[in-house]
Amino acid sequence: MKLAPSIYTADFLDLGEQVRAVEAAGVDWMHLDVMDGVFVPNLTFGPAICKAIASATPLPCEAHLMIADADRYLTVYQAAGMKRLIVHAEACTHLYRTLAQIKELDMQAGVALNPLTPLGALEDALPLLDLVLLMTVEPGFGGQTFIPESPTRIQRMRRLLDAIGSTAELEIDGGVNTQNIAACATAGASMAVVGSSVYSSRFSVAEGVRALRQAVSTRKL
Ligand code: DX5
Ligand code: ZN
Repeated sequence: MKLAPSIYTADFLDLGEQVRAVEAAGVDWMHLDVMDGVFVPNLTFGPAICKAIASATPLPCEAHLMIADADRYLTVYQAAGMKRLIVHAEACTHLYRTLAQIKELDMQAGVALNPLTPLGALEDALPLLDLVLLMTVEPGFGGQTFIPESPTRIQRMRRLLDAIGSTAELEIDGGVNTQNIAACATAGASMAVVGSSVYSSRFSVAEGVRALRQAVSTRKL
């Protein structure tokens, strides 16, 4: 299971150190949560912070665009050094065009689905995708509770991907912790966004990452 820490849940006064800490703990990607206060009821940061983080780390960076008009900003996030852009199906009226533009800009393309968006909404897009992101909370805030029905949804998406022989990542995002990450891995998720289970005042980043890895590796198959 690949891990992608969400920098949005880190200490903003100490971003450089917070990036180095997850790097040293051996994570796989950095996950950058961009929120616009329109598509979601919260505002985070934009391309300037994304660029600063991408320039400061050898880890590949993905921007999770929780914004109403992603099409306007695709080139901006490419210039910020993003390797992958994840847009929301609910926010993109012309998804084929959006995905084609992301590819033309030489980035990987991912699509996120909110917890109750039917999986079928994405079925025809699956062959075009490098990643599917299933939200396991409503997007907008870190530290929320994992929606318990999520593993069956992950399993259903895993079947759709396997049916077409897709090698796309199946990523989960929201409330992932040591109590639920194993069930998500068993259900077929290949990658997890981790926020407050890594960036917490109660344990170090290294301990958080180690505990998550251990929960996955000791799971019953
Ligand atoms: C929610 C974001 C998540 C979130 C992760 O809208 O997309 O990436 O901040 O944080 P936790 O793991 O604390 O839910
Ligand atoms: Zn996210």
